[in-house]
Parts: sequence; structure tokens; C-alpha cells
Amino acid sequence: MKNSPSRHLAAFCLSALLVAHAVAGPAPIPQLLHKDGRYALMVDGKPFTVLGVQAHNSSNYPAALGQVWAAVKDANANTLEIPVAWEQLEPVEGKFDFSFVDTLVAQARQHKVRLVLLWFGTWKNTGPQYTPEWVKLDNQRFPRMLGKDGKGIYCLSPFGEQTLKADARAFTALMAHLKKIDSAQRTVIMVQVENEVGTYGTVRDFGPKAEAAFHQPVPAAVLARKKPPVPGAASGSWAEVYGPYADEYFHAYAVASYIETVARAGRAVYDLPMYVNNALRDPLEPMAPWKGNFASGGPTHDVIDIYKAAAPHIDIAAPDIYLPESGKVDATLQQFQRPDNALFVPEMGNAAGYARYVYQILGRGAIGVAPFGIDYADYSNYPLGSKLKDKAMAEPFGKIYAAFRPVARQWAQWSLEGRTYGIAEGDDRKPQSIVAGAWKITAKFREWQFGNANKDDLPPGTEAPNGGAALAQVGDDEFIVVGQNIRLGFEHNAGKPSMYARVEEGHFDADGKWVMERNWNGDQTDWGINLTARPTVMKIRMGTYVQ
Ligand code: DGJ
Repeated sequence: MKNSPSRHLAAFCLSALLVAHAVAGPAPIPQLLHKDGRYALMVDGKPFTVLGVQAHNSSNYPAALGQVWAAVKDANANTLEIPVAWEQLEPVEGKFDFSFVDTLVAQARQHKVRLVLLWFGTWKNTGPQYTPEWVKLDNQRFPRMLGKDGKGIYCLSPFGEQTLKADARAFTALMAHLKKIDSAQRTVIMVQVENEVGTYGTVRDFGPKAEAAFHQPVPAAVLARKKPPVPGAASGSWAEVYGPYADEYFHAYAVASYIETVARAGRAVYDLPMYVNNALRDPLEPMAPWKGNFASGGPTHDVIDIYKAAAPHIDIAAPDIYLPESGKVDATLQQFQRPDNALFVPEMGNAAGYARYVYQILGRGAIGVAPFGIDYADYSNYPLGSKLKDKAMAEPFGKIYAAFRPVARQWAQWSLEGRTYGIAEGDDRKPQSIVAGAWKITAKFREWQFGNANKDDLPPGTEAPNGGAALAQVGDDEFIVVGQNIRLGFEHNAGKPSMYARVEEGHFDADGKWVMERNWNGDQTDWGINLTARPTVMKIRMGTYVQ
């Protein structure tokens, strides 16, 4: 027994493993890579697509996690976004409790899921409700904003020096703890700093410190980035430069500067990518000064430049999409995807109608997306999201993520290279087209597979818009397509006669290798590439011929 061959083999394997580990070392820290105006989130040193879900707000306790993991699994998500609240981390000042973080990280590893942690600190949806009681009840030490009438309002002031110090200290403790427990495995890949910041009902803080700062000159970094929407002075006080926009811009600067101090302190100890999320202002409304219609001071699309100037340790200003109309989704994605701002959608409604936007978002080159409330905590997000609370709520996203998941790494690489395109069926149900290199691709919706004989006889299951496709041009004439409820037509955009060379249906295996299942031909291609309700993965090679 002592010298049995299996014992030798076990010893050999163990030492081989140890050597391999020692050679490989810990996984590289996640980071956001920027190349020619496009981005990739690097995880374990390789591009990664966040096929995410976000848990409900109060699922940040070990007892709630079982229902979260069940939904994560049904959604086929590779990443869970979940809060870590200041109130749970530091219930007593200076005494930190990391037990939830430890349980969460350990369970995420068991489930082979990455984490994005949401720091619910000074502001959660603009309010202080996630701060510990010793913060939220002590308005002397941790002052609230003052309204124009001089009365305190619900929101903590971004000029509260003690608040900032305490938040930054707690956040830094969290980051230091993550460094300690996660430097080898990098289960946590990104951190959101605060949550949907800004202020409802009051455009800015009118407290004495804020008033004094408001009359100071606009900082040069802001002037360099943010041009006044109406002609103003080239420099001077906020009111002189930005006129009717001054209050909102000033508040954005104050909130962003506060967040910068928190993020910078955290990154100094453990340098994970960080972002802020935004409760949108109406993306289609003509630009106008704040009139009580959104949370002033949050990273709305009109003040991304101010956030960039004030908060260089925040990588991304990210939109939370709860406006379901396709025109608004389109506009939002355009406003937030910029050469200086990676597209990441950390929240989106979990109603079935949002699922088609996954194709559009990932096709546009986003680093990831996450519907909110994919969590079986017996809580519905209707009307922001789904009425459903069970498997049927996760299913529309789960089937899309299942198709993407094996190819998520390549997808992120293709996005970084600018090869990807996304389509989501519009509320108008009209055809759409994209141009990819030499190819024009037209998408149609609500079509029978042989085409429509009668405009009143439309295919079942298409009553509400639910079609979409994401395409990656992997060669001059070759595309990987993932899509559903859509008919795609390919034509050469210089008018050359064209044909399908090969139309393979298949999937990517666990190693990301293409596995062909069958080649489509005849009826399956004569009328275009018809993808049905089941998300289908295709590899399509086009060709031209001489007439
Ligand atoms: C947006 C917030 O960021 C989330 O935390 C959550 O409150 C949703 N709104 C509402 O479901």
C-alpha cells in the first residue's frame, strides 16, 4: 500500500499541479482595455463579455443567495452583479464585517460565476438608505444637502467632508479585503461605485460650502472637456460659463468629485475597473436645463464629459435602461457609447421585451449587459420589469445567453476589433439594414419562413417585438450570427451577384471551437436566413459570381 503506483501517481500529479500553479502565478487583475475607441474587459488576461444578471437590492445576505444562484443558472449568466452595502460592512463605526463578501465569493466560485460588486454607500438611487445608522441619523457630522429654501433634503451632501472620509474608508476596507481573498482567482471583476447618484427635486446643494464653490471659477479640467450648450464666457464662475445649465453641471461635478475620491482610494489598494450607473434622463427630449425631470448631478449623457474630467478613476458611465421603447434604447446606446466611454449596460428591465436588446447591445460592442432582478426572491419588478418571478422570467434571457456563452470570449475579441453589429426589432416592426464590409444585411421581422402571403396572417409568437441578431464579421465574406425571430438577407453592396457559399448551423463548444450541426440549403436559404424563436447560431459564408 505504502508504495502503491496510485500513491506515486497522486504525488506526481500534485507536484505537477503545484509547479504549474507556481509557473502560472495568480490570474492577472481584470482591467479595461482601450484600443482605437473600442474596449474589452480583460479577465484572466483575455477579453470577456459580461453575460450578466443583477440580483434584487436586498439579496445581499447569505440566506438570500440560494434563490439568486438558481436564477443565475437558469439565465446561463457568467456574471452576477450584487450589492455590498455600507450598512452591512460597517454596522459599527470602524468595525468591519466581511462575512457576506466571503460567503458570496466562495459560492460564486462554486457556481463558476464572476462577480460585479455594487457599492451601496453614500448614495443608492440618490438616497442615503444604505449607509449605516451611525451615518444616516447623524446629520451634524454627515450633513444633508440644503434646498434653495435653506431646508435640509433627503440626500446627503457631496460637500460633507466627514461623509466622504467615512465612505472612502469603508470602500477601501472592502477593496483591501478583496485583494486579500481574491488576488489569486479574480472572481470579482469589476466594482460599481455608489448607485444611481444625483438628486431628485433639487438641482444642487445650496448649503454654505456648495454656495462658496459654486461662485469659484470652473476648474480647467472641466472647461477643457465640457463646452457650454449655450454661448457663455470662456472661463469664469459656473453661472458665467454655463448659464442656465450651471446648477446641474456644478452638481454633477460635485458628485463626480466625491465619487472620484472614493474610487481613487479603493483603487490605490486594489485596482479593479470601476464604473458608475445612471438613472437616465429622457434620451429623446431636446437638450434643456434641468426642470425637475431627472436626478440632477447623476452621470446623465449630457454630463459624461464632466464625470470624465472630475473622476478619472471611474472607467465607465453606464446607462440603466428601463425605458422600453426601441427608439429610446437606440438613443441611449448612442449617447453612452463613445470613444472615451465603453458601453456597458449594468441594468436593464427583466421583462421579456428587453431580451432582444441583448443582441443589439452586444452587437454594438458593449463589454456586457445585465437585466435587473433575475433572482427568485419572490419579488416582481413590474412595471419597470417583468410581472413574473420564476423560471419564465429568466428564460428569455437564458436562451440567448446559452447561445452566446461558449463564444463570449471570442465575441469580446471581435468587438474589440470592431467586427460586430447588433440589431433589435424596433417597435415599428420595420426592416433594418447594416453594412458590414462588402455586404449589406437586411433584417425583416414577423415573416413566415417562405415570406408573407397576407399582411393579416402573421406568424404566431411575434405579437410583441422580440427579434434580434448579433453578427460578427470574422472574414471578408464570413459571418457568425446569433439571432432569433428574424429573417436576414445578404447582398453585395457593390451590386455583384452573390450567393451563399455555406450556411452552417451549429454551436461553439466549451473551448469556443465551432461545431457544425448541419448545412442549410434549398428551402432553408431560398427565402433568406430565417431564425426562429429558438436562438440559433450560424456561420455564414457568402460568395459572388461573374455574370
Ligand atoms: C435602478 C436601481 O439602480 C436598482 O438598484 C433598482 O432599484 C432598480 N432601479 C429598480 O428595480
